[in-house]
Amino acid sequence: MKVLVVGGGGREHALAWKIAGDPRAPEVFAAPGSDAIAAVAECVAIQATDIAGLAAFAERERIDLTVVGPEAPLAAGIVDEFRGRGLRIFGPDRAGAQLEASKAFTKRLLVEAGVPTAAYGEFSEPAAARDFARSLGFPLVVKADGLAAGKGVVICADAAEADRAIEEMLEGGAFGEAGRRIVVEEFLAGEEASFMAITDGRTALALATSQDHKRIFDGDRGPNTGGMGAYSPAPVVTAQIHDEVMRRVIEPTVAALAARGIDFRGVLYAGLMISPAGVKVLEYNVRFGDPECQAIMLRLRSSLIDLLEAAIDRRLDQVRPQWDSATSVCVVMAAPGYPGEVRKGDVIDGLDLRGASAKAQVFHSGTRRDGERRWVTAGGRVLGVCASGARAQDAVAKAYDAVAGISWDGVQFRRDIAWRAIERERQR
Ligand code: AMP
Ligand code: GLY
Repeated sequence: MKVLVVGGGGREHALAWKIAGDPRAPEVFAAPGSDAIAAVAECVAIQATDIAGLAAFAERERIDLTVVGPEAPLAAGIVDEFRGRGLRIFGPDRAGAQLEASKAFTKRLLVEAGVPTAAYGEFSEPAAARDFARSLGFPLVVKADGLAAGKGVVICADAAEADRAIEEMLEGGAFGEAGRRIVVEEFLAGEEASFMAITDGRTALALATSQDHKRIFDGDRGPNTGGMGAYSPAPVVTAQIHDEVMRRVIEPTVAALAARGIDFRGVLYAGLMISPAGVKVLEYNVRFGDPECQAIMLRLRSSLIDLLEAAIDRRLDQVRPQWDSATSVCVVMAAPGYPGEVRKGDVIDGLDLRGASAKAQVFHSGTRRDGERRWVTAGGRVLGVCASGARAQDAVAKAYDAVAGISWDGVQFRRDIAWRAIERERQR
């Protein structure tokens, strides 16, 4: 069997690693992959957004299964192209990917489906947006409609901040095309969780729960990032909340997509806000979270290929993934400057020739091999150092022990990944 993983970051490293270890012993390819992914897959020099190039490669190589990591190729229609050529691919088509690519599309769908979400308005005119902001009260949130790499969200404490965000997006072109339309919404307080499910368009199967750490600094301070660490499971998602999310969020979303004639066979990743008042959806993504994927792949005991194929073949009701009962954690190590302008090319100490550490599972988000033995930084997020343990505190201790052995000039990482889970363990 031949499997192609599209992408080249830490999430794709984890997917390729998991697939390479599958009992079916597949031949794994990654496009474009990375020097680190090359340890588990054959990397081909085709960019993740070169849809025609990828489809031609998959046809030529007779790839049996393609799995797409990042959202950009999904939003650009990679699944439509592959399906059109009779190639098997896991992920939503372009229509389905709107769930991530357009916040306005998602908000409308959620409201129609009766899924709980923040009150909102959708605007392309600044004056109307400003009026609505005042009627909503503060704090509130201003969001660019389109894909903005996690940066198109501004939390505004007062009218002056809201006016500035509205103006920057609608008039200043701060997010280009993605910000031509905005969503202004109610601020939700609570604890966030990442809830990923796989759907075949009819059945939805929850994956292990997880929690990301969006802010750059300890204690959830500083600017938002793509994610500075994750762990799984997320104890904030109790059995009761899990049921509520399936019943009130995931299942109605699957039904609403189907009612629109959208053939969604992929990951539904709901970003949730959980508070005593209940669960609300902050956003949807249509692919595995990064770094949540790294944490949950560490816990997935059964075959990932079986799950992906069951979704493609619309028989998800017949499979049941097996999860390790341990807690897993992924600590992201980032380059200096991240999430702003990053410096790249720093020499990384503490990795072996294959980019591994003896103490933990390391997935590479942004590195490059420089010559025979040296690894250097090549992105904002550089490494995801992952470990598991019986309790969150055991997993965290192991991961940070490995982190301590890896370094480069200006490295940044949070020292409090999984603190909420550890806090809950202490209270027990
Ligand atoms: P999004 O890209 O929509 O996930 O937003 C990025 C981050 O902004 C989320 O993970 C939250 O931390 C925060 N955020 C987004 N929407 C809201 C909201 N309505 N209330 C509070 N925080 C929010
Ligand atoms: N970790 C957040 C995301 O993948 O969007």
